[in-house]
Amino acid sequence: MCVLTGAGISAESGVPTFRGDNGLWKKFRPEELANFEAFIRNPELVWEWYNYRRQLIENVIPNPGHVALAQIEQMVQEFTLVTQNVDDLHRRAGSKRVLELHGNIQRSYCVDCGARDDRPDFTEERKIPRCRTCGGLIRPDVVWFGEMLPQEVFEEADAAARRCDLFLSVGTSSIVYPAASLPMVAKQSGAYVIEVNVERTDLSGRMDQTLIGKAGEILPLLAESMISNRRVQQ
Ligand code: APR
Repeated sequence: MCVLTGAGISAESGVPTFRGDNGLWKKFRPEELANFEAFIRNPELVWEWYNYRRQLIENVIPNPGHVALAQIEQMVQEFTLVTQNVDDLHRRAGSKRVLELHGNIQRSYCVDCGARDDRPDFTEERKIPRCRTCGGLIRPDVVWFGEMLPQEVFEEADAAARRCDLFLSVGTSSIVYPAASLPMVAKQSGAYVIEVNVERTDLSGRMDQTLIGKAGEILPLLAESMISNRRVQQ
């Protein structure tokens, strides 16, 4: 089993999505905040925005959708969770095998020497953190527009999509590639593909099934039915 998640699964925890009505990209301009050139042009603005998101994420908790996937992982022999989210909520919900395609907002590193520094030192004076090793600029460890995904992580996700017999696509608008290619890779490899979303997406017509509703309501039902099926089989 392989599951792909997007911002929609964290919406019920209070983390804004990107393209929904109150989505981040409705309020903020991705070209000013989520690409490398913008970061070099104005690192203070970009860090201000990531610190605002870091704080928001630190003050929320995983919701029943995250918890249900962690439960399902315990029940399924081979389970891979692939997420586009950088909020770490799957891990906080207890998921073990999580492939983070777009990085993790709690991590950061030096653009020059690559040294990792998850607690960059901000002070009143210093709004732009510097590397303690080489003095280079520290950036959030997230994948920005125009950047490559971490190759090994994407290859593992692609392989899991090709191997699985059941693929769930949860809370994603399915328009950002290469993540959005995974449901169809799974389908072409013979998997049964189910989408869970509060509305139809660009890929709904090609899914085997689309379940319209909140991830935090549908996934616990799926976990429960798997638990009761197991009881029947025992
Ligand atoms: N349950 C299920 N689906 C939901 C819920 C919910 N409670 N709330 C919203 N959704 C759906 C929306 O209908 C939408 O289709 O989640 C989707 C969120 O889509 P986006 O905001 O586009 O987020 P995502 O698909 O994760 O974006 C992909 O784009 O901006 C970049 O790097 C960023 O990882 C992100 C990538």
